[in-house]
Amino acid sequence: MDAELTWANLMARTHEAPDGFSSTQPAQAHFTTSVDVGNHIAKLVLARCEAAASRHGIEQPWIVDVGVGSGRLLAQLIALGFPADRLIGVDVRPAPDLPVHWIQGVAPACVPPVQGLLFAHEFLDDVPVDVVAEGQVVDHRGTPIGPAHPDDLAWLQQWAGSDSGVVGRRRDEAWRTLVSRVAEGEAIAVDYTTTEPVGHWRGRRAVAAPGADISAGVDLRSCRAATGGRIVPQHRMLAGVTAQHLGETAELAVLRDRSGLGAFGWLITDRP
Ligand SMILES: C[S@@+](CC[C@H](N)C(=O)[O-])C[C@H]1O[C@@H](n2cnc3c(N)ncnc32)[C@H](O)[C@@H]1O
Repeated sequence: MDAELTWANLMARTHEAPDGFSSTQPAQAHFTTSVDVGNHIAKLVLARCEAAASRHGIEQPWIVDVGVGSGRLLAQLIALGFPADRLIGVDVRPAPDLPVHWIQGVAPACVPPVQGLLFAHEFLDDVPVDVVAEGQVVDHRGTPIGPAHPDDLAWLQQWAGSDSGVVGRRRDEAWRTLVSRVAEGEAIAVDYTTTEPVGHWRGRRAVAAPGADISAGVDLRSCRAATGGRIVPQHRMLAGVTAQHLGETAELAVLRDRSGLGAFGWLITDRP
C-alpha cells in the first residue's frame, strides 16, 4: 500500500487526517512564516480589511484566517485593536487560548460565509497535489504508478507547458471555494510559488515522507484563473511601509527579500 502512496494521499494524511502531522504537532515547534516577523503582515491585513469594508459599505467587517496555525496573526490583530469577536480562526488544530471564534475542521469545506476579509497565509501549499512525470502519476518515492487523469494533463499543459510537474487543480478548487465564502469583501491567499513537494521538521528541510510536514509551492496564476484577482509580490505589498525603529528595518528587510519571503505572491480577489 505504501508503495502506492501518491503525493496527494500523503499530503492528505499529513494535513487532513486526525492523526496526521498538522493535527498532532504544535505549530510553533515547526514553522515560522512572515506572520512571525514583527506585526507587519497583521497591519497589512487590517488595512486591506478596512479598505474592503469601506469599498463595500460593510460596517462591521469580519476577518477569517484559514490555516491559521498557532493563531499568532489573530493575536496581533487583537493587539492592533480589531475586535476579537469578529475574528475567526480555521485550522485542523485545536484552538489556542485566544478570545476568538475557532473552527477546528478541514478547510475549505468548514469555512463559513463572511462579510469582510478572508486571509489564507501559507494554507494553499498544504492542499494535496499529485505529481506527474511524463504523463504518469508518481508515488512519493518517484515510482510511476499509472497514467495521469486527462484533466490533470490538460492542467499541466496549460500551466507548465509539459506533461510533467505538480498538478495544482485541487488548489484551484480550494481557492474557488474559499473565495465563494466571501459574500462581500476581499479574499487573499499568500504563498510561495511552484516547487516539488518538500518536507520540513522543526523548521528545517527534511525528507518529504510520512510523519513530516509536507507542502508544495502554489501556482497562483491558475488559482487566479479560477476566481479573477491580481497577484502582487510581497516586497511590493510592503513597499510603502516605513520602519519606526532599527528592529523594524531588519524585519522589513527580511519580509521584502526578493530571494526569500519578498517573492511570495499575494493573490487578491475582490468580492462579489
Ligand atoms: C504552514 S502553516 C501556516 C500557518 C499560518 N497561517 C502562518 O502563516 O503562520 C499551514 C496551516 O494550515 C493548516 N492546514 C493545512 N491543511 C488544512 C486543512 N485542509 N484545513 C484546515 N487547516 C489546514 C495546518 O494545520 C497549519 O496550521
